[in-house]
Amino acid sequence: MISIKSLAESPELTSIPASYTFTSNPNEYPALLPADPEVNVPIIDLALLTFGTSDQRSKVINELGNACENWGFFIVTNHGVPESLMDAVMDGCRGFFYLCEDDKLEFKGDHVMDPIRCGTSFNASIEKEFYWRDFLKVFVHPQFHFPNKPSGFSNLALEYCKRIREVAKDVLEGISESLGMESNYINKALNLDSNFQIFIANLYPPCPQPELAMGLPPHSDHGLLTFLTQNGIGGLQIQHNGKWVSVNPIPNSFLINTGDHLEILSNGKFKSVVHRAIVNRNSTRISLAIANGPSLDTVVTPAAELVDSHNIPPAYIGIKYKEYIQLQQSNNLKDKSVLDRIRSI
Ligand code: OGA
Ligand code: NI
Repeated sequence: MISIKSLAESPELTSIPASYTFTSNPNEYPALLPADPEVNVPIIDLALLTFGTSDQRSKVINELGNACENWGFFIVTNHGVPESLMDAVMDGCRGFFYLCEDDKLEFKGDHVMDPIRCGTSFNASIEKEFYWRDFLKVFVHPQFHFPNKPSGFSNLALEYCKRIREVAKDVLEGISESLGMESNYINKALNLDSNFQIFIANLYPPCPQPELAMGLPPHSDHGLLTFLTQNGIGGLQIQHNGKWVSVNPIPNSFLINTGDHLEILSNGKFKSVVHRAIVNRNSTRISLAIANGPSLDTVVTPAAELVDSHNIPPAYIGIKYKEYIQLQQSNNLKDKSVLDRIRSI
């Protein structure tokens, strides 16, 4: 299957092939909305969580709980990951996508659980319509895998992913407390010392008919927290109060969203939020999503402290995280279709 990058670079490309057109419902075409000035994803100052006074810390924990409950998305600033490292990793992603097609073939992977996999669309072997997207997906923890090209990329990614795990741990401590539990609750319950972490780089080349194409369809993320950055070009839209709204990470920050497993653990208090990526006519967009989940062998169930056999039954049945990922990755990417399978009420 040809990469979307090669297709987009074909000379004289003025329309998109039929297989990239989302024709099912013209009203569903992604609108290229400017980021809505009325919509303010909460911004959380992490320095106050880690170094603040106990009052400041309680305030941030409260903000985190509200953000998870009302938005499923929040921006963190003062996270301690150096901007130079964030920029260098973004450059590495660009360098990877710009390798020649033959070089990239080496990392194609065949199976959804192959630790290094690059390709186009989401699951091109079963999709009827393709997405305007190339990707690189790598399992980076508990074992670190990585392509050996372009040179230097692997070492940068190793450091970056480690730093993100540290930030994720801090944020999950705050989230545990916001649920009324001790700070290391999620850490212990989900075995985060061997947590499963995936590095997902997305390339969205310019598209001659962006209003007919889709970068990534509406979906939720399977893990606990995804950390998103981008190369300064917007394209992410999230569902908020029944509407699609455009959201841009601000420079030197992470846009974090809560995944299906935080919804399961919190027994539905926190909802994983459906989001999508749209494309544009003029610019190449690169986004980098670092997905942080439980350990692969953990069977995640709603926290016992949040259910009560008489009044609040568990809303989801337990499933091993590894099986959940396999389900998501082997099917069409669609809304919250995997989570819907394990709802018990
Ligand atoms: C993802 C994702 C959004 C984007 O990789 O899961 O939702 O803006 N990406 O690329
Ligand atoms: Ni996503």
